[in-house]
Parts: sequence; C-alpha cells; structure tokens
Amino acid sequence: MVQRPNGGGRSAVAPRPRQSSSRPSAAPRTGQRAPELQRYGTITRMPIGLDASTCKQSVQALNQTLADAITIRDLYKKAHWQVAGHTFYQLHLLFDKHYEEQDGLVDQIAERIQLLGGISLAMGADIAEETRIPRPPRGREEVPVQISRLLEAHELILTQAREAAGAADEAGDDGTNDLLVSNVIRTNEMQVWFTSEHLVDVPLVEADEDDGE
Ligand SMILES: [Fe+2]
Repeated sequence: MVQRPNGGGRSAVAPRPRQSSSRPSAAPRTGQRAPELQRYGTITRMPIGLDASTCKQSVQALNQTLADAITIRDLYKKAHWQVAGHTFYQLHLLFDKHYEEQDGLVDQIAERIQLLGGISLAMGADIAEETRIPRPPRGREEVPVQISRLLEAHELILTQAREAAGAADEAGDDGTNDLLVSNVIRTNEMQVWFTSEHLVDVPLVEADEDDGE
C-alpha cells in the first residue's frame, strides 16, 4: 500500500480534539498517544524520481540488511567485552573498531530506508525476529568460536547484500546499489579479512621446520 503525502493514508483516523486549558501550566503533558503516521511495511511516495514498487523492493531488502547489520554490530560488542586469552588486547580493540564501523552502516541503511519512503526497523525485539544470524549463547565463548560466528554472519550479510545490490541496479535505484556496494559489501569484506586471519594456524614462537625442507 502506498501512502501519499498530505495525509492520503490517514483518512481513517479521526481528528483529535485539541485540549483547551483555562490557565497556563508548567507541568509536562506526558502520557500522550496518537495513531501512527505511517504503518510499517507501507511506502510514502517521495519526490525522488523512483516509482513506489522500486522503493518498496529496496526498502524490504534494506530492512533485512539492517536487521543483520544491527545483529553483527552487537555480536562484535559482545566479543569485545567477553574476549579471553593471549590475544585479548588486539582483539578487544579490533572487535570494537568493527562494532563502530557496523554502527555507521546501520545509520546509513536506516536513513536510506526512510528517504525511500519506507520505515526502518529499530527496536531489538523486532531485529531479533527478522535477522537470519543465529543467536549466540549469553555466556562467554572461546576466541575461535567467537570469530567463527562473526565470519558466518559476515557471509550471510555479503550474500544478501550482493543479491539486493543487483536487484537495485536492475530497478534503477542507483543510490541503494551504491550504498550496498560501496559501504555494506566493501566494509564487510574488509572485516572478514581482518577477522579471519586470526583463525590461521601459524606457529607462534618456533617455525615449523619440517614443512620447509
Ligand atoms: Fe569498550
């Protein structure tokens, strides 16, 4: 359903009577509620030269990217806090760097969804319902397990982002294609490199001489 500007999608909502107060008050008027301006899943037509079906397709794809980006962002913060072992300091810093980069992507994706006339997912409970990244246990896990989970999450994101980028390109939504390729895909690929090198089993102190001869 497409909601048009000027309240086209709000006709079923009765206007609220304004409360009139006989005397001014310094009390905050809390506890207010009102009908939603726009229901989730609908598209508000925006004057950006894209038709509603293209915007809807991009918004649906970007909300999946968003749910998975928020989840991997939080997975990085969990790893940042809970990492253990002799690589603690470098991984503690690296995981937080990746958290910050994913947080930047989250904002860019969510704001693109809004400018396309859609509604971005936001709350943790909704993200948990929509993400395809498996939920880790609350407890603390070994570094190889932390990194394995992160790499599997990256691969899910990269596969979906490439499909969404291709679909946006075919539909003429260059901005969505550019965001997915230039930001989401490139950032996730770089993070895979920096993270996966920690799972390469190389000698720490003594070279493995047998294999060199
Ligand atoms: Fe920290």
